[in-house]
Amino acid sequence: MRPPVSRAAFASVLLGRRAVGASLVAARCASSAASPAAAVTAYDHASFVKEIAATDPPEHLNSLLNVLQARGEKIVSPGAKRGLIPVVVPLSESPAGNLTSLLRWPTAPTGMEMPVVEVGKHGLWLLAKNVKQYIHRILVEADINADTGDDVWDAVGEAGENLYTKGDFKESQLADLDVYLLKKVGLFPDVIERKTLRHLEKGDNVSALITGEFYSRDQFPGFGRPFVFNAEILKRVGRTSEAKDSARVALKSPWWTLGCSYEEAAELAGWEDEQIEFIREKVTEEGKREDLKKGKAPEQVVLDEAAFLMDLACVDGNWDDVVDRIAECYREAGLDDVAKFIAYRE
Ligand SMILES: *[C@@H]1O[C@H](CO)[C@@H](O)[C@H](O)[C@H]1NC(C)=O
Ligand SMILES: *[C@@H]1O[C@H](CO)[C@@H](O)[C@H](O)[C@H]1NC(C)=O
Repeated sequence: MRPPVSRAAFASVLLGRRAVGASLVAARCASSAASPAAAVTAYDHASFVKEIAATDPPEHLNSLLNVLQARGEKIVSPGAKRGLIPVVVPLSESPAGNLTSLLRWPTAPTGMEMPVVEVGKHGLWLLAKNVKQYIHRILVEADINADTGDDVWDAVGEAGENLYTKGDFKESQLADLDVYLLKKVGLFPDVIERKTLRHLEKGDNVSALITGEFYSRDQFPGFGRPFVFNAEILKRVGRTSEAKDSARVALKSPWWTLGCSYEEAAELAGWEDEQIEFIREKVTEEGKREDLKKGKAPEQVVLDEAAFLMDLACVDGNWDDVVDRIAECYREAGLDDVAKFIAYRE
């Protein structure tokens, strides 16, 4: 089986090429509207998102920052991107060193909200689909945790009351926190995965399979993680060939969205290093010439190069060496604002 030929972020995979074209146009319009000030300025998070990441700051962003701080995290400058995967806007660091950030998809469809992610060793872990759901979840958790509850409520400000009414979890009489979160707040990868694993532990393989399948049905656009997890579940109940298929779908997503190392996903897919070799070839001058000869649009070729370089950097864990080339690819594709964001580091 041949690996995918186009992988410009997730747009080309999930939405087809027309959507890539559409987001190109949207991004161009945005870039002509604002021209960010010189790099020395220290930005607050909202203006950084607007002026450097060239997208709308999420609603309640300041509330989230306050809440994270109340939870004992240290606020991190939004431009402190050195050494990190270049598509994030850092928000805060936990005492354990985990970095909570916003994700700025390079070719996000118009209107898509910025997800909240944790920056990990192998890329990104999706914490929540948007800031609102993440705050909502923290408030529910604070409501049942007497230790940090008050600090969080003091910090959240007005946004809090719009999102959650204290005591609602208890009143709902739902079985546990996970059930409440899924029913009343939103879908969170860790909660869905825990739920699936519980089914397996109880020997309810059918429910585990149904939940795993649900997880991978486009609940988290662009992320390969649900397909990796579904592959693990399929494998555990003995459906090896379906497990392989699901892992192969996962590897068509950006590798930094797998929630595990390339090797782990490739093993589930029954592959070794051939995908890496294939992609290394794709980003050579010769590989790019081949794609052009096959009729791929020049813009698509450079967008794919950017995506492939990110896959490879995720395997090597070295971002700083390739960030400038990745930015150049976006510039060549006409996405000047994305290029500027990618290349930005304090
Ligand atoms: C912090 O990151 C580690 C490694 O990725 C992870 O195992 C752990 O669950 C994270 N901790 C929190 C509190 O999210
Ligand atoms: C359910 O899956 C487990 C492995 O997780 C397996 O040992 C068991 O045989 C399966 N049960 C059924 C009824 O298929």
